[in-house]
Parts: sequence; C-alpha cells; structure tokens
Amino acid sequence: MISQILHANDFAQEAARFILARARGAIAARGLFRLGLTGGRSPRAVNDALISLAGDLPWPKVQFTFGDERCVPPEHADSNFRVARESLFGPAGVPEGNVFRMRGEIDPASAAEEYEAKLAAVATRLGEARYTHDLLLLGLGEDGHVASLFPDSPALDENTRNVLPVIGPKPPPQRISMTFPLINAARQVLFLVPDAAKRDIVKGVIDGDARYPASRVRAQEQVSWLLGW
Ligand code: 6PG
Repeated sequence: MISQILHANDFAQEAARFILARARGAIAARGLFRLGLTGGRSPRAVNDALISLAGDLPWPKVQFTFGDERCVPPEHADSNFRVARESLFGPAGVPEGNVFRMRGEIDPASAAEEYEAKLAAVATRLGEARYTHDLLLLGLGEDGHVASLFPDSPALDENTRNVLPVIGPKPPPQRISMTFPLINAARQVLFLVPDAAKRDIVKGVIDGDARYPASRVRAQEQVSWLLGW
C-alpha cells in the first residue's frame, strides 16, 4: 500500500478531479465505479465541483455507498444521504438503484444488517470475499474518527461484520457505520481534510498514533490525503 499527501489550492476542484480520474479508470477497467461517500461538511462543495467537472461521465455506471449515516430520516437536516441527494444524485440524475442508502429511519441494528446484506449480494455477484470499493472517501474527525468509528468504540475491533450500529459522541449519537474490514478492503481511500485546524490530527494519524481510529485505515493500493492547506 502506498500513501500520498496532496496539498490543494482549490480543495473542492482538486477533490473532484481526483475522484473523476479514478471513476474513468474504474469504468474503463471494470465497467463500474464503486464510490463510498463520506458525511460531514466537506461533501457538499466537492459534490458541486463533481457536477461542474463530470462532463460525459456515465453516472449509471457509478455505484454509491455511504461510509456512515446518522439514525435520522432521509429528509432530516443531519442526514448524510440528504446532502448527497441534494448536491449530487439529484443534479447528476443518478438512477435510484445506483445509490445504496443506509436506512437511518429504521431500527439501527436492522438497518446495519440490511446494508450488510445489500453489499454482500454485490460482492457475491462479483466474486469478491468482501465488497470492494474502487474509492472510499473519508472525512477526519477532531478526535481522529473516520466514518462513525470513534475512539474507544467496540466497533473499532470488529473483524467480521462490514456494517454496525454505533453510538458516538458527535451528535446525533446513534449511527450506522462501515467497519475497518470493509473500509480497508477498498482499492483506494481518499481522506478529505479541508480544515487546517486538523493539521495536528492528520500528522498524528500519518505517524500511526493509536489514539486516533483513522490510524487503522488501509487500502489495497493507495491511501491519499487531500489537505486544504
Ligand atoms: C459524519 C462523518 C464524519 C465526518 C467527520 C469530519 O457522518 O459525521 O462521516 O466521519 O466525516 O466527522 O466531519 P467534518 O468534515 O464536517 O469536519
């Protein structure tokens, strides 16, 4: 696994270009681009740039998953799906069947099991031991969390399940999250960190500081960091 650190001048544009380059490569190689989306504040601007730069990208050949979701309905202001629907799926005309939504509106354990089964069905069809993202986008929390894998959570040590219900300190507390086995099965991971205030956390993660859950992230081919400073 190789890592690279990229310093962006125009964060959203450079993130979009990074994603689109890997999308075109995956579609050319396998006829499909499987992209995991992150939650938080970074996606909206990146999605706007994706829409403006996508050109003739065949969206029906892109399959979307979510690294995590808050346990709220899809129209709720805190919903990661809502951000993606408003700023990406809607404007791009992404077919509904291409979006794997974590159902935050139902019982968290049931939603996690449902998502696990949805990903397993694709993995089985494609002959994979585990669903394999072409690119998984991750934000980085002030405590070094990724997705909804927070420090000291029992979910950090999950080594079988791909998706779990979790409780976290960042509101809203009840969430559904990918686990490290699924995250680390990705061909590539891109950390999106626009905020220079996280400079020290980024350094700690790259140095492998075990206090930060993000230190456990790996990828089959490459982990990249796009930094907004
Ligand atoms: C979530 C996110 C979470 C987020 C980080 C960074 O649903 O809250 O998936 O992991 O990416 O907390 O969030 P910001 O980019 O908003 O700081």
